[in-house]
Amino acid sequence: MKIRVDPDRCQGHARCYALAPELFSVDDYGQSSVVGDGTVPAELEEKAHLAIANCPESAIEALAG
Ligand code: F3S
Repeated sequence: MKIRVDPDRCQGHARCYALAPELFSVDDYGQSSVVGDGTVPAELEEKAHLAIANCPESAIEALAG
């Protein structure tokens, strides 16, 4: 599983980072981005789905593959 954050949608709610700090980093402006290339290790997939479900802007996308 791979994820990305849509920079046009992200409004800096930081719930993604609160739920899965292993997968997201938030910059000084509150903009979230994925750590590395967005590949989610199997043991963190549950957290990734949680973050996707909890982003109020639906800014987090799961990519196929
Ligand atoms: Fe942005 Fe959603 Fe995270 S708005 S900071 S991707 S919870």
